[in-house]
Amino acid sequence: MRLWQTFWSCVVLLNAAVQDVNSLEQELSGSILGNFLDPLKDLLDHRANDTNATIARFSLRKQSHPEDDLCYIVPGKPESLAACTFNSTSKTILVIHGWTLSGMFESWLPKLVSALYEREQTANVIVVDWLESAQNHYVLAAQKTQVVGQEIARFIDWIEETTNMPLQNIHLIGYSLGAHVAGFAGSHATNKVGRITGLDPAGPDFEGEHAHRRLSPDDAHFVDVLHTFTRGSLGLSIGIQQPVGHVDIYPNGGGFQPGCNLRGALEKIANFGIFAITDAVKCEHERSIHLFIDSLLNKQEVAKAYQCGSNEVFDRGMCLSCRKRRCNTVGYDISKVRRARNVQLYTKTRSAMPFRVYHYQLKIHFSSKLNISEMEPSLTVSLYGTKAEAENMELKLNDKIMTNKTHSFLLVTEKDIGDLLMLKFKWEKTNGWSAANMLKMVSSWWTGDSDGANMEVHKIRIRAGETQQKMVFCVKDSDTPNLKHEVTFVKCKDAWRTNSKRAPRR
Ligand SMILES: *[C@@H]1O[C@H](CO)[C@@H](O)[C@H](O)[C@H]1NC(C)=O
Ligand SMILES: *[C@@H]1O[C@H](CO)[C@@H](O)[C@H](O)[C@H]1NC(C)=O
Ligand SMILES: *[C@@H]1O[C@H](CO)[C@@H](O)[C@H](O)[C@H]1NC(C)=O
Ligand SMILES: *[C@@H]1O[C@H](CO)[C@@H](O)[C@H](O)[C@H]1NC(C)=O
Ligand SMILES: *[C@@H]1O[C@H](CO)[C@@H](O)[C@H](O)[C@H]1NC(C)=O
Repeated sequence: MRLWQTFWSCVVLLNAAVQDVNSLEQELSGSILGNFLDPLKDLLDHRANDTNATIARFSLRKQSHPEDDLCYIVPGKPESLAACTFNSTSKTILVIHGWTLSGMFESWLPKLVSALYEREQTANVIVVDWLESAQNHYVLAAQKTQVVGQEIARFIDWIEETTNMPLQNIHLIGYSLGAHVAGFAGSHATNKVGRITGLDPAGPDFEGEHAHRRLSPDDAHFVDVLHTFTRGSLGLSIGIQQPVGHVDIYPNGGGFQPGCNLRGALEKIANFGIFAITDAVKCEHERSIHLFIDSLLNKQEVAKAYQCGSNEVFDRGMCLSCRKRRCNTVGYDISKVRRARNVQLYTKTRSAMPFRVYHYQLKIHFSSKLNISEMEPSLTVSLYGTKAEAENMELKLNDKIMTNKTHSFLLVTEKDIGDLLMLKFKWEKTNGWSAANMLKMVSSWWTGDSDGANMEVHKIRIRAGETQQKMVFCVKDSDTPNLKHEVTFVKCKDAWRTNSKRAPRR
């Protein structure tokens, strides 16, 4: 019931949020852009004529001082390259921030710089400072992304001319509005840069726009994108929902991120409009950055993402195959898969770093002599492996359980349990107090019967995403397949038969 309640309050909040956003938009186009900006107009015009006005500054940060801007590279001044000890034979990574209220760099920025140096010691990590434009009202800041991108493109062209650096070595990393800035930089640069990573590219004013007016696969040899805050409707989600790269990864469906306060975020949006970027909202938007930082720092524990038609299908565990490069690595070490059509990948994560989890698909056939319908039991599974166990995990029911039908589930564990040896499966009536459930419970109580007593499971087929192992588990000899009790499953004795088909190929 709690889940149900949460769901409804979310729907209500979302509706409220959308309504609020609509009125906010009107307000924006009306009062804010109209009256409020008038006094600023002269100032803006003046700035526009001042050809030396800083649109963007390029600070080469040092590994020893990831939070300080100690040396700026100035296009047109080759001596600034030497002064900042720019290494023209190594990778150059431009970090591009997003919209800001405070006019200051956010706390993630030095963390990302640090993590980049952790991995690429000789790299030139350059922070692009476009704070002056980014602290405008969102709508204005969004308009500025193109000009800032052009400025960065000129910088890239100049670097290429001056140092003969191959552009394959240039990697732009842009967060939120900064992702679109990176897109404009890439599209305006004379030659194509190697890679652009979009970290939850901003949605408002970019969703549904033509590829020329937002980040797109045309902007670099390889464009990879992480989407972490794509809730909302009518193109008014904070992160862009549509795929905009060669590979787009939607961790946790691109929606709710574990460890972030979803309700808090939606309430803030409902009360203050979609641009009220508070901590609650920022947690999910910024998760994209922390996933990327994680991939830099925890190379041994990289998360995998799997190609899938939709998050709903992924949630049924049906997309854990890595055949034909259908899975990829999340973050920095992603394989540069470039297909004619965009590739969308999904993954689950933990609530904190390291974010990786282990994905399993469970295929379970429920059989019974009785045709029982409308079953929504609570199913719990415990996995026992060579390294650890993960106990009492609830299987998410996507449909009602049907008699004589195979159901597929996605299960994730936070720890690496090693090779799976045994599993336990439990069927329990839900605590849901719906009228139908009440009636069923009362009647089964009177007859001394329960769904579980009629239902049997003989085999459970498992595919492990991270190891790509496929296994079949059978009811342990001493056990009965009857789900009245917790049933223990071990590897089927004849499992070698199911696996032998492939063995001779090796
Ligand atoms: C800026 O330039 C435009 C056209 O070049 C001119 O009309 C305008 O008066 C200038 N504004 C200022 C403040 O100099
Ligand atoms: C712009 O920069 C040039 C060369 O760096 C300088 O000569 C000129 O005085 C500057 N103009 C303004 C308005 O600062
Ligand atoms: C520049 O980078 C290259 C490789 O990326 C490295 O071998 C070289 O030592 C670096 N030079 C300096 C001065 O750090
Ligand atoms: C389910 O399948 C079993 C075995 O094929 C059969 O005996 C049983 O009647 C079926 N149950 C229903 C409800 O169709
Ligand atoms: C089982 O019940 C469902 C719904 O009550 C019905 O659609 C289905 O035809 C029934 N199947 C059998 C084998 O009786």
